[in-house]
Amino acid sequence: MSNPPFDIRPSGQACGAEITGIDLTNPLPRKTITALRKTWLEHHVLSFPDQAMNDDDLERFTQYFGPFGEDPFIAPIKGRKHIIAVERQPTETTPIFAEAWHTDWSFQNNPPDGTCLFGIDIPACGGDTLFANQHLALESMPETLRTKIDKQRAIHSARSGYAPDGIYGVDDKGRGMDIRPDASAAATESHLLIRKHPETGKEAVYGAFGYIIGIEMMDEVESVPLLAELYAWQTREEFQYRHQWRPNMLVMWDNRSVLHKATGGYEGQRRCLHRTTIGSRSP
Ligand code: SIN
Repeated sequence: MSNPPFDIRPSGQACGAEITGIDLTNPLPRKTITALRKTWLEHHVLSFPDQAMNDDDLERFTQYFGPFGEDPFIAPIKGRKHIIAVERQPTETTPIFAEAWHTDWSFQNNPPDGTCLFGIDIPACGGDTLFANQHLALESMPETLRTKIDKQRAIHSARSGYAPDGIYGVDDKGRGMDIRPDASAAATESHLLIRKHPETGKEAVYGAFGYIIGIEMMDEVESVPLLAELYAWQTREEFQYRHQWRPNMLVMWDNRSVLHKATGGYEGQRRCLHRTTIGSRSP
């Protein structure tokens, strides 16, 4: 790439880069957006510190990269159709939201390309987000495991989280987030376990045990241990980037390239981030 109109500082971990020298509170020129997309495809997770963005800025930024995705089971914040709050109050004792490795909404027929998350109230300690690079996980995967998942289609579903009897359905301790469990979470979709990234053509493992509930044409006795073995491999520390938040920081990640998970460790403190989904540009 000819010199991009911003500074890029790679995390030095398995993915992720920090972008500075750019102002996201104002519209960006086309050539900056093109350069950002290229940088995003290379590093998979981009963070932008010190951006005093409001919800309009967040929506405008999201739409540079695709249409809004569809966010089921979580009500949008007041006055917005496409922003949800990832939020936890200091007194909350519910399980941390999204604390298992996953890629967003992989149970959809055409899952979202990416996600944007903007830090508003950030605890003084804890609450990092972890990412795992799934290109790297595949590249260095033992041949024996790769052979077992090659050409297999995984069955994805939201049921263990969002069905009325799922994790969020049985919350009874006053969760701050407006999660709306629904029977439609029982629906399933299948995707190849090894997929080519539609823009870079690079292969990656897609999805993880959790939203993945089985493998097509394989019984549970065989698929559950295989999915557990794959989960252990694809989330190894050497494939990870640990993101530490600050208020006014935007992060965007590529759901086709990375898994991610929330972490706790901030009991007694409030944490609030606004999230948008970048829908798929692929048919
Ligand atoms: C998410 O998966 O969107 C939430 C990540 C986080 O809270 O760190």
